[in-house]
Amino acid sequence: MMFKFLDKQDEGFKVDNIKLDMNNIPKHIAIIMDGNGRWAKKRKLPRAMGHKAGVEAVREIVKECSKLNVEYLTLYVFSTENWKRPQEEVTTLMNILAKYLKSEFKELDSNNVKINHIGDMSKLPDICQTELTDACEKTKTNTGLTLNLAINYGGRNEIVHAFKNIVSDIKDGIINESDIDEKLISNYLYTKNIPDPDIIIRPSGEQRLSNFLLWQCAYSEFWYSNINWPDFKKVDLHRAIYDYQNRDRRFGGIK
Ligand code: IPE
Ligand code: IPE
Ligand code: MG
Repeated sequence: MMFKFLDKQDEGFKVDNIKLDMNNIPKHIAIIMDGNGRWAKKRKLPRAMGHKAGVEAVREIVKECSKLNVEYLTLYVFSTENWKRPQEEVTTLMNILAKYLKSEFKELDSNNVKINHIGDMSKLPDICQTELTDACEKTKTNTGLTLNLAINYGGRNEIVHAFKNIVSDIKDGIINESDIDEKLISNYLYTKNIPDPDIIIRPSGEQRLSNFLLWQCAYSEFWYSNINWPDFKKVDLHRAIYDYQNRDRRFGGIK
């Protein structure tokens, strides 16, 4: 596989003596990137510095997922509830996002990463909408890692949005009520055509979903750690994948 993300300290697939089974890499990894504020507070820095440091972790983890041939990486960037934060913090987060897309776009594109958005884009500031639409459009034919950015995403909002579209399509005669099944509902979600996450990772010590991928997480494995997101390194990703590889996924059946 072509790969330009290699760096000087490249350690291949064996990090910190964790030997991953390359035949059992999760197809879809989803991460609730939490703990930026606490990372900053610990260092007596403003919260914005925590968010900036979080971008470094995004770079490292995206790079590593690509190397490991993960097919989908979904990052929870901004929830439908995060608008409750002070205006100043929301603005900072939106600016960081637009800047990230602008500055990283070339490298992501040259590494065959396909950028995708899930959530309600309409409420994002224009600059974010422009950068996001542009990045998605320009990378839509890339065939490497799909980087799914959950921005103004909420699991309940996604289900409401799907309900409305299903009702409207029934009214318009595009589908019939009798067509409604699990597959059809999945196809009306923002994650249409994306397999359910195999593992959901949440750093920072919190053990909750916070409205993330509510429908899709039915059989996801959960992995928590106390590390704050800006400190999350590839070794932590390897630990999570290693644990995942040693779990017994039964999907309700027996072995
Ligand atoms: C995650 O870090 C970033 C977003 C939710 C946008 P937080 O900002 O939630 O950090 P903590 O939870 O306050 O430490
Ligand atoms: C979840 O983190 C949302 C993102 C990481 C984008 P929050 O920090 O918003 O979640 P709560 O408020 O602790 O549940
Ligand atoms: Mg938080």
